[in-house]
Amino acid sequence: MIVTAEKSYRAEIGIKDGRIAQISGGQVSAAAQVLDAEGKWILPGIIDVHTHMELPMELATSCDDFTTGTRAAACGGVTTIIDFSLHRKGTSLEASLRDRRRAADGRVAVDYGLHAEIVEVNEAILDEIPRLVRDGVTSFKLYMAYRRDGRMVDDGGLYAVLKRTAEVSGLVMVHAENGPLLEHLTEQLLMDGKVAPIFHARSRPHQVEEEAVRRAIYLSRFAHGHLYIVHLTTSQALSAVQETHDGGFPVWAETCPQYLLLDETVYLGEGGGDFIATPPLRSPKDREALWLGLAQGGISVISTDHCPFTKEQKRLGMERFDRIPNGLPGVETSLPLIYTHGVYQGHLTANQLVAAMSANPAKIFGLYPAKGALEVGSDADLVIFDPQVEFTISAKALHMNTDFSPYQGFTCRGAVQLTMLRGRIIAQNSQFCGSSGYGQFLHRRIFEPDNCQFWSTHEKASSSAGGPAGQED
Ligand code: URP
Ligand code: ZN
Repeated sequence: MIVTAEKSYRAEIGIKDGRIAQISGGQVSAAAQVLDAEGKWILPGIIDVHTHMELPMELATSCDDFTTGTRAAACGGVTTIIDFSLHRKGTSLEASLRDRRRAADGRVAVDYGLHAEIVEVNEAILDEIPRLVRDGVTSFKLYMAYRRDGRMVDDGGLYAVLKRTAEVSGLVMVHAENGPLLEHLTEQLLMDGKVAPIFHARSRPHQVEEEAVRRAIYLSRFAHGHLYIVHLTTSQALSAVQETHDGGFPVWAETCPQYLLLDETVYLGEGGGDFIATPPLRSPKDREALWLGLAQGGISVISTDHCPFTKEQKRLGMERFDRIPNGLPGVETSLPLIYTHGVYQGHLTANQLVAAMSANPAKIFGLYPAKGALEVGSDADLVIFDPQVEFTISAKALHMNTDFSPYQGFTCRGAVQLTMLRGRIIAQNSQFCGSSGYGQFLHRRIFEPDNCQFWSTHEKASSSAGGPAGQED
């Protein structure tokens, strides 16, 4: 069963020279090797557009490097990742991209691209944007928080980047949390001796995210920009996105499995600090709103924000919630988890899963239809997925370089049986069988907003009025 963003149908796929050469109702013509996928699903390879391999933070560096992280990705059905350059003040965007490519090239097992991070905005930086877009780096990431780490940009900088980027058909990704507000709330909590992991969530209440999302949208509309909100987590922020769509203006949003499956009560349990990520995990009501947002098209993408740490690394900051290295592992587990909790439990159709995890990311980030599609001429990037198999997640059995999984003990319905990248099998039955270095750097095409208005094709469910927008606090 071939499952794409548009439809599901039975057919055979013929692959030649790394590309899909034939899709037919009958047997494909003479093949050197035949893979029997009877009873299974064939999906386009998963595209995870938000990963942080070997990301240095204040107390620790995320513990998957490009080698281990992309091997794990392959085992999870992911055939493309898009990671980030590490921009530092006083350096050019180009230099930061060059350094990041040096870290990744020759070590990646899946295809990869890079978003250009921007932590400082000046004329020289703005002048680089058109060049980078021409060279295939078409998306730029800015932070409205993380002032302590020197990564926060102000509103003028964000506006300027939105404007310049739109002029050359690029896309701006924003980490939308009000940094100064959350810093103030954090200081207040710490002064009161409130240092436990649950106060991470209290220091970043939904207002912190909603205000930043609304401000980013406002600035983007003023600049006629193209805006993509990373890791959207709350019903209120989702309402801001939906209201923008309802007003006839585009804005794109992603969410992540952790915000769909987990809630803030984990911070109260033993090892609560292991779950620290920003934005924090939210309420069960928010989870429901996010599923609905995906089904209705308000949220276009599921990425993972894969940024793993070991338990020991997390413990380095355990004495104070704001010192704990923030981030969660996820690149290897996203597909079975979203299948189980999204499709099997009835929140999404299988086609909606493929849209959010493969086709839409490919369209938004300039890779479609080479990636994100199963069409003649597309790269033979695919997953054979067995929707019948049941397994239980255990960090020990996974390939990510960490002893912690936020989903430890979760039972999944559906498993990746085989992952293929450009015609080569790179993982089979949870064993990596590709090679580090086979992955290629992807030069991406410009952003085409008219091909990405996913919400306009969705019928609004009648429950929407009392759903995401109806929550009060
Ligand atoms: O906690 C997170 N999300 N860590 C990774 C860096 C970021 O903010 O995306
Ligand atoms: Zn991130």
